[in-house]
Amino acid sequence: MIDARVAELLNQQVNKEFYSAYLYLDFSNYYYDLNLDGFGNWYRIQAQEERDHAMLFVQYLQNNGIRAKLEAIDKPAIELTGAKMVLDEGLKHEQYVTSLIHDIYDAAYSVKDFRTMQFLDWFVKEQGEEETNADNLVKKFALFGDDPKSLYMLDQELGARVYAAPSLVL
Ligand code: FEO
Repeated sequence: MIDARVAELLNQQVNKEFYSAYLYLDFSNYYYDLNLDGFGNWYRIQAQEERDHAMLFVQYLQNNGIRAKLEAIDKPAIELTGAKMVLDEGLKHEQYVTSLIHDIYDAAYSVKDFRTMQFLDWFVKEQGEEETNADNLVKKFALFGDDPKSLYMLDQELGARVYAAPSLVL
């Protein structure tokens, strides 16, 4: 039986992950519109990963006898005003999501819910990777973004990203 507060936070995270997917789909659309198709591809795959995260939370709740309550997903709240600022916002958003995962972990820890902590371990690691990836994009853009040839190469590199299903199976 999952503690009510932990269950509530897990349920809220379903919405947060779907919102992340929505936000990153908006990033993707923005880049395609700028003809930076590689960046568009990178964020389209990121959006797919966020949907996967949402579904993992739904599944975990379901595995514990809880029906996920689906709330409205907000429209993307960030006005996109440049290729660089999108990457900065991506990093900020991942740092925010990490803080949410840590909050759930904290709640699970406080009631000795070891099962939920173990489930969240995967997300703690995943967030570390996602923050690193987002930070790398920011740094690469700072290095290469102003030079058209280098930006083209970076766009090609990001265009090569392919979707991989999450390693966590519930
Ligand atoms: Fe699912 Fe990137 O947080």
